[in-house]
Amino acid sequence: TAAESPVIVSREGRVGRIRLNRPKALNALDAATMEAVVAAAVAFDADPEVGAILLLGSEKAFAAGADIKEMKDKDGSEMYAADWFRRWEDLTRLRIPIVACVQGYALGGGCELAMMADVLVAGRSAKFGQPEITLGVLPGMGGSQRLTKSVGKAKAMDMVLTGRMVEAEEAERMGLVSRLVADEDAVATAEEVAATIAGFSKPAAMMNKEAVLNAFETPLTQGLVFERRVFHGLFSSADQAEGMAAFAEKRPAEWTHR
Ligand code: CAA
Repeated sequence: TAAESPVIVSREGRVGRIRLNRPKALNALDAATMEAVVAAAVAFDADPEVGAILLLGSEKAFAAGADIKEMKDKDGSEMYAADWFRRWEDLTRLRIPIVACVQGYALGGGCELAMMADVLVAGRSAKFGQPEITLGVLPGMGGSQRLTKSVGKAKAMDMVLTGRMVEAEEAERMGLVSRLVADEDAVATAEEVAATIAGFSKPAAMMNKEAVLNAFETPLTQGLVFERRVFHGLFSSADQAEGMAAFAEKRPAEWTHR
């Protein structure tokens, strides 16, 4: 039923609206929510009648992160096999502009989802953070990369290494927030921004978005370092040891996929 759906999708004029709807879990982003958000956004992107997407949470929380309860008992090979969080990449590939309205908590995956939007409107109650380190992990939906590109190394390192929450005013000062407004004006402002964008030529809006996003692309030097780190990391896998031993022993490898 609509009441149980993890998102509420609607349309107002040329604005497609996606509201996160798991209030009891502070809009924690489980796999079903991810799929519902991305599927709705993909459909709006392709709809010539829609010129912008408005992404909203609730007053208490935009989203308090990926769903920890859903992930807690998984192991590394399960996460890898499912390519956990991969579907969010489809959201970041869309060409239609996305406006996020953040009130309350935007933590972990919630902060990362807000950063996937193109224009971020925040109410004064907004609190941003990447607390993954407190869970023994790191951001997995782009936080270590997008946060650093948005706010620079000093602030990004502080946030990811301490897990502290940053209040809306500091977030605006550091360049994470496009517009900071009173909480009671947050939704109306975000609606107005989305309607303004949706009122322009859709191809022109898409090309403006594409051009700005282009400024974020990873330079080759960083991509190469990342590749080298992942390469080093694979030396902790059983299959690396087996593959190289098999070569030296001139026999076919027997993979255990671990
Ligand atoms: N996953 C699953 N459930 C969550 C959740 C999350 N990320 N955040 C909150 N909830 C649940 C709580 O477990 C609680 O459920 P129950 O009522 O069943 O106990 C309910 O939502 C309400 O939360 P609280 O009682 O904790 O509310 P609070 O007002 O006392 O605290 C909060 C609010 C400080 C945001 C706290 O909920 C919190 O610390 N949440 C976790 C924040 C976090 O660590 N996020 C990162 C997740 S990992 C991640 O996102 C990985 C990634 O890179 C994508």
